[in-house]
Amino acid sequence: QGDWVAMVTARAPTNIAVIKYWGKRNQKLILPINSSISITLNPHDLSATTTVAVSPSFTADRLWLNGKEVSIEGDRYQNCLREIRSRATEVTDPKTSRIITKKDWESLHVHIVSKNNFPTAAGLASSAAGFACLVYALAQLMGVRERYKGEISSIARIGSGSACRSLYGGFVEWDMGKDDDGKDSIAIQLAEEKHWEDLVVIIAVVSSRRKETSSTLGMQDSVNTSKLLLHRAKEIVPKVMVEMRKAIKERDFATFARICCADSNQFHATCLDTSPPIFYLNDTSKRIISMVERWNKAEGTPQAAYTFDAGPNAVLFAPDKAKACELLSRLLFYFPPASDKKISSYVVGDVDMLAF
Ligand code: PMV
Repeated sequence: QGDWVAMVTARAPTNIAVIKYWGKRNQKLILPINSSISITLNPHDLSATTTVAVSPSFTADRLWLNGKEVSIEGDRYQNCLREIRSRATEVTDPKTSRIITKKDWESLHVHIVSKNNFPTAAGLASSAAGFACLVYALAQLMGVRERYKGEISSIARIGSGSACRSLYGGFVEWDMGKDDDGKDSIAIQLAEEKHWEDLVVIIAVVSSRRKETSSTLGMQDSVNTSKLLLHRAKEIVPKVMVEMRKAIKERDFATFARICCADSNQFHATCLDTSPPIFYLNDTSKRIISMVERWNKAEGTPQAAYTFDAGPNAVLFAPDKAKACELLSRLLFYFPPASDKKISSYVVGDVDMLAF
């Protein structure tokens, strides 16, 4: 035995859905009622960094999130750990050349330390980055090799649905799949990171408070009570998925913007159609929507697009740096940082100097 430690550190960025996932058909396996599409952000911006370590001296699995120890007993962590452990293979630790056998993995405990560089649970998909990073780091540590493309994404999915999309960069589709066992409910990269380099993503942090209704509870209430949600999942999403894939492939900003804004608004309409209704947008969010809509209408063609997840923060898209500058100056004009509704922003891409 002796006292040794083997560890792996990984970083995973968050992803922003432009066609939203909302509603599960199987809660345990986290199988969605519709497919979705997202953009994975730059790993240097909004991301989770996770170190996983094993040692014979560890007596239990333990987890620290953002500097505080939290329970690892929840189903989501346990399911991910179980699935990774069951696929563990013999590994030679590159630092010490120690061989860790398949049998060793059954008894070794893990310590997990994870940190986000952005507000947790404020609708900035912190769980997506967190679970993608955790599952990827564990898979690396335990020598898990995919038996089919997307297998690791299907394990991240059982931690947090949208996490499966953070396993890949660029534009990513989460195919809802048909099977009951979830094997085909996986993430697929639609276009790599460099495909649409001109596109700029700006996140306006309207509030960094924790959201009031978690996405898990919210989407379950929506599945149980909103007829609009079922109509969206069955009739609308399959059609817009085809259009969105094409818009991304052709870097067609006008179509991208139209579908992206409409999908965000429809998602929040299904939240309002839920009983009891769920309000994720606040007054500032709505003013940002109006600002973009008025600008787009005045120009006759989309200058910018917006989308909002399960929280009030705006994710804005501009087709290039020049438009991004204009968008930021409009944000500064309508939402001056000195006011009590302060907006801070992360600028993703290489226009960091504009962040305020
Ligand atoms: O994966 P969850 O449970 O965090 O749900 C994510 C839901 C949305 O962010 C609103 C939409 C999406 O597709 O990311």
